[in-house]
Amino acid sequence: SIPVLTIDGPSGSGKGTISRLVAQRLGWHYLDSGALYRAVGVAAGWADLDLADPAALVRCAFDTRIGFRDDEAGELRVLVNEQDATDELRTETAGAAASAIAAIPEVRAALKDRQRAFRQPPGLVADGRDMGTVIFPDAPFKVFLTASADERAERRYKQLKDKGVSVTLDGLLREILARDARDAQRAVAPLRPAEDAVRIDTTGLGIDTVVEQVLALLPA
Ligand code: C5P
Repeated sequence: SIPVLTIDGPSGSGKGTISRLVAQRLGWHYLDSGALYRAVGVAAGWADLDLADPAALVRCAFDTRIGFRDDEAGELRVLVNEQDATDELRTETAGAAASAIAAIPEVRAALKDRQRAFRQPPGLVADGRDMGTVIFPDAPFKVFLTASADERAERRYKQLKDKGVSVTLDGLLREILARDARDAQRAVAPLRPAEDAVRIDTTGLGIDTVVEQVLALLPA
């Protein structure tokens, strides 16, 4: 079957960066599953949906068109209902909306097939919270990335600042901790490592080091 490498972990653990680089090195496809939840959250906001109305959100999860494409600079752009929403998706507001709707079991179910459809030859690197536990439990390669909360907040802070988003480190730390707590404590697909996942603590490690550690898990 088509190989999958799952990379799960909390926000700021380095998942996104590491997953993209590893996928590039392998020449495999890349799934940013968080972007799907963020896209549905943002589309729900555009449509003025009530975050307390599960039925409307589930419909939104089915109906929202989500597209990915690389721009000229090689950056991944995300289109939500044909609109480029890349910058809006990156904000912590979108992250919080994603986390809220991601706690609804029917929303998760609605996005399941879309995620599995990314499993195409020659292989897939899947980045998220439940890639190794729920979406691709049969994946032959599984990684769980962690890092200290301070370092995760700092990485997110730098990313957002580079994009020109104004945030404070303190506020970001609080928001990230709240989101992680909700992701870890929700009833459906809580954030946790798959039993057969290799755990890597990326605190103090450079990107290249982590990329090499992950690639070392795959046969040469
Ligand atoms: O990874 P990212 O920060 O983009 O994810 C945004 C939110 O989407 C997470 O906080 C989480 O609640 C949700 N999510 C999820 N399952 C995934 C990916 C993301 O529940 N596989």
